[in-house]
Amino acid sequence: MAGKHVLDDAAVQTVLEREHANAKDDSAKLAEARPKIDAAKAEGAGFGEISDLYPKDTYLAVEPDMGRFLYLSVCMTGAKRIVEFGSSYGISTLYLAAGARETGGHVVGSEMQPAKVARARDNLEEAGLLAHVDLRQGDALETLSDLEGPIDLLFLDGWKDLYLPVLRMMEPQLRPGALVLADNIFTFPDDLKDYVDAVSAPGGSYRSMVVPFESGLGYSHYLGS
Ligand SMILES: C[S@@+](CC[C@H](N)C(=O)[O-])C[C@H]1O[C@@H](n2cnc3c(N)ncnc32)[C@H](O)[C@@H]1O
Repeated sequence: MAGKHVLDDAAVQTVLEREHANAKDDSAKLAEARPKIDAAKAEGAGFGEISDLYPKDTYLAVEPDMGRFLYLSVCMTGAKRIVEFGSSYGISTLYLAAGARETGGHVVGSEMQPAKVARARDNLEEAGLLAHVDLRQGDALETLSDLEGPIDLLFLDGWKDLYLPVLRMMEPQLRPGALVLADNIFTFPDDLKDYVDAVSAPGGSYRSMVVPFESGLGYSHYLGS
């Protein structure tokens, strides 16, 4: 059936094109911070310590193809209650919210940096999608702790050492059949090993695969507890 796709709205596309272009500046900022990050890794620093060395104003955003995949995942599963861990300047949130506008759903996003939250809200408003998003500022382990289920789709993209704690916190609210997406499975194999083991355990609560985007997108079907 032909129909108008929210992702193709002029206002949504304008914001996405500008923000994806801005996100390209990440490379230069990360290159500057790289020596310190590499030195900390060599000294065996944990993910929390290393994340503090990342410039606070980097997007670290999903690529357009992955964004489109998130949008289609929302539309195709009919997800209405969507949760995002790690919203940054709102690029992935825009894709999820575009899907939510089609399903009549709602996204709860989370981001600890106040400047990023403010800009993400502006982006969502400019795209006409803010009504579909509740963006919560602060540590997701606190801001998402009072969420009620059933959650249909969870997207994990905050700091990697927290994927598993956030998943465990959300699990009681996940609808059996929910989709759990997790970026950077290939980028951070060591930091995400516990998470990957948890969603791949034979006979466990999930069946999973990794969608082969360059960064690796974990794609897990929650079967219930
Ligand atoms: C990889 S970026 C997210 C990119 C975003 N999903 C996108 O595609 O545009 C990770 C973000 O998670 C945020 N973050 C990390 N740990 C967090 C936490 N405990 N609570 C809330 N936000 C967190 C960081 O500040 C950073 O902006």
